[in-house]
Amino acid sequence: MLKDPSKKYRPFPPVNLPDRQWPNRVLTRPPRWCSVDLRDGNQALAIPMNVSQKLEMFQTLVQIGFKEIEVGFPSASNTEFAFNRRLIEEGRIPDDVWLQVLVQAREHLIERTIQSLQGAKKAIIHLYNSTSPAQRRVVFRMSKKEIIEVAVRGARMIMDRLDRLDGTEVLLEYSPESFSATEVEFACEVAEAVMDVWQPTPERPMILNLPDTVEVAMPNVYADQVEWICRNIRNRESLIISLHTHNDRGTGIAATELGLLAGADRVEGTLFGNGERTGNLDIITVALNMYSHGIHPGLDFSNLNAIREVYERCTGMTVPPRHPYSGELVFTAFSGSHQDAIKKGLAEWNEGRQQYWDVPYLPIDPADIGREYREVIRVNSQSGKGGVAFMLETRFGIYLPRDLQREFGPIANDEVDRIGREVTADELKAIFWKEYVERESPWKLVRFRTESTNGHVRCRAELLRDGQPVEVVGEGNGPLAALVHGFGNLDVPRFEIADYSEHALGSGEEAAAIAYIQIRYPDGRNRWGVGVDTNIEIASVKAVLSALNRSVGAAAAQQ
Ligand code: KIV
Ligand code: ZN
Repeated sequence: MLKDPSKKYRPFPPVNLPDRQWPNRVLTRPPRWCSVDLRDGNQALAIPMNVSQKLEMFQTLVQIGFKEIEVGFPSASNTEFAFNRRLIEEGRIPDDVWLQVLVQAREHLIERTIQSLQGAKKAIIHLYNSTSPAQRRVVFRMSKKEIIEVAVRGARMIMDRLDRLDGTEVLLEYSPESFSATEVEFACEVAEAVMDVWQPTPERPMILNLPDTVEVAMPNVYADQVEWICRNIRNRESLIISLHTHNDRGTGIAATELGLLAGADRVEGTLFGNGERTGNLDIITVALNMYSHGIHPGLDFSNLNAIREVYERCTGMTVPPRHPYSGELVFTAFSGSHQDAIKKGLAEWNEGRQQYWDVPYLPIDPADIGREYREVIRVNSQSGKGGVAFMLETRFGIYLPRDLQREFGPIANDEVDRIGREVTADELKAIFWKEYVERESPWKLVRFRTESTNGHVRCRAELLRDGQPVEVVGEGNGPLAALVHGFGNLDVPRFEIADYSEHALGSGEEAAAIAYIQIRYPDGRNRWGVGVDTNIEIASVKAVLSALNRSVGAAAAQQ
């Protein structure tokens, strides 16, 4: 890098708009959306989509709810032309969907484009030529006047051929390509020259698209450019002002959102932002940003995973794991404090205590876009007790008492640390089972029987202690009290039951119960044990033995 970049690069000049209005506005409704996946997106692929992939993508775009779809550049190749024809001739375009095609201001290309549209019900013919100083100087070597002439000639050539599209409802679109790098006054002049030819009216408007072909400035500058055009162009009410942002500075989405505040009516972009260089605008993100503010975008992303699957298959691109809304990791919390907050937020939401979604760290409910709650939390060595408990609850219906969560959290973290990677839910359950449920040494249950008279219970537990049979006989006002009493007759430290809870695991006849028991020693030490059995009484006896076995293990570990 240069020590002094100002010798090579210069700041982008601001727009003179001291009374700009857009910063004080809020978005209240969605724009018209136009997908350019099959044109701008497709032209940026290392291997462009083949016909069947384009057809599948077209079908998906229709299902999402796009009413304007730029399907290609039909004059650019026979494949593009044939694709257009196939869509029309096979009746694949719903009556309310506009077929948009792009064309440069050249006669033979316009001619072929018109041919490609024969028989379409609704067509948008999109004419463009580039207008920025660099394009004028380097590429076209043309003066401003000559650039205007190119645009006007193209506009006329289209106008002169419209009678050949009898039976087709036609909407005309003009793009001063590289608009955001063009002087606003000149962009306005070119656009007005095209308007003079096409003569739009409020009843028969035309689309004026304002491409941020290459992002060259901050998004507020683009918004100023859009507002400047909206306020200064003649006959604004006969125009549908459209945005087309790319993402070179990583702010394509912001530029579109601010451009909408600045007065635009329409947005062009692609799914997941596929497009030249850093991509086109990601329409999904803009649409879901609106949704998260309570505005339905008019596009359906209820099954975002399925859309992503079609996209990845058709384009060969992949959606990065941190991509807004759709990335693998965006509804995943790794940090313990995030997990705890999410768990509490989801509990509050599920209990219906909030009218509006306000769950920490989750800007929208993942379920609304077909993502699953179980993707929300994963367990790694940084996960807190909340994340661990949440995963056991949501995946297996294991509801740990709060105090047991506190005990098991650090145990799970140590084990995950030892494994050295994130663990799956099954692995987490295995850690829990090994620590609590599968503790069968030194104490193991062989048989447990009780007799009860007038609420008084006598128990006889046949156990193995380090493999040797031992019988524990005791009595009390319940099976557990009788068991604790029985242990009092053996040479083991005295203990009492400090906490007890149980619940069913799953349902059906073979369903097991899980019992959680905390025992307390006279010196104040506590130990949790967990037992699982189809018989709840046996599950609780196993839980007592689990707690005793864990005490012995802990004592041995301390020696
Ligand atoms: O990015 C761009 O300027 C374009 C135009 C053709 C609209 O894709
Ligand atoms: Zn583009």
